[in-house]
Amino acid sequence: MDKVDLWTLSDLATPWCIRVAVTLGVAEHMARGVTKIDELARAADCDADSLARVLRHLVDKGVFEEPADGEFALNEAARVLVEPGPLRGNLHLDGWGGRIAGAWSGLLAAVRTGRPSYEKVFGLPYWEDLDANPGLSASYDAQMKDGGRSVPDPAALVDDDWENVHHVVDVGGGTGALLAETLRAHPHVRGTLVDLPRTVARSDEVFTSAGVADRVAVSGQSFFDPLPAGADVYLLTRLLLDWPDEPATTLLARCAEAAAPHGRVVVDGGVSPGHTPARGGLMVMILTGGRTRNLDQFGALAAKAGLRVAASGNAPSGRFIVECRPA
Ligand SMILES: C[S@@+](CC[C@H](N)C(=O)[O-])C[C@H]1O[C@@H](n2cnc3c(N)ncnc32)[C@H](O)[C@@H]1O
Repeated sequence: MDKVDLWTLSDLATPWCIRVAVTLGVAEHMARGVTKIDELARAADCDADSLARVLRHLVDKGVFEEPADGEFALNEAARVLVEPGPLRGNLHLDGWGGRIAGAWSGLLAAVRTGRPSYEKVFGLPYWEDLDANPGLSASYDAQMKDGGRSVPDPAALVDDDWENVHHVVDVGGGTGALLAETLRAHPHVRGTLVDLPRTVARSDEVFTSAGVADRVAVSGQSFFDPLPAGADVYLLTRLLLDWPDEPATTLLARCAEAAAPHGRVVVDGGVSPGHTPARGGLMVMILTGGRTRNLDQFGALAAKAGLRVAASGNAPSGRFIVECRPA
């Protein structure tokens, strides 16, 4: 392994400079041909000297170039910032990206207390903050839609026996991108999207543009309340890790009661194979007190919720999937 350079690893200037440049739309202005610092600052509505200092820092790190004094341009690394995809939303400080960036300042408090520290930083617990700020929740929903799945792929089953599946419920399915792709891939399947009312309200366009609107029902509700019953598959994608053990068990129990007796619960995300400690999940530790779990830890939660792990394995995309059946 190369020698670890702690100065570089602990530098906060570069991550913040990138976010400031993204939030000010600097790359887009450059792509439109605005390159002189005064014109860039005017277009971005900011101070020219300060912007130049931020851009020079990034130039030194290999993002943007300064072909002449006071003139900045895109290079290969910076061009990614004008391409479609999830990166910009994740880095944009005026939306959910700003909350995520700022939330890291609560890491110490989370470690000291063993409790999520989001409220200490932003004044409200994470989910309540989203409830209280419609612009923020819109930006969160958009980031969930584009964030991890810029090209959504259909849900995967360990056994891939989709011919036996007729009804899928996507629990906490966001604005429906995964469900839409799943229904497109399996024309005999119908789907139900369960998420908070404000989020399912944004799903129309997703289902219509995928051409599956006639096979979808939506249920704007909490997934801690009883779920639509009797479906063949209940999907929990990138969801369970948001929650500490107690609410995660309640959520799984809701799935178990709705899936009984013959349905299954498919967990995609937040569970790692094997018995060694699960990695990752630091952000949810700060935001919500959630965690990633290994298969043993997940199996224990599932058992409390009335489920047994029936199968696990990797989807074609490489994601680790766990399938449970009512015990
Ligand atoms: C991390 S996102 C995952 C979204 C989607 N499954 C995906 O993979 O893109 C978590 C989702 O849970 C939803 N959510 C949070 N609390 C909820 C609740 N109490 N009831 C229903 N949905 C909830 C959020 O609105 C969000 O869409």
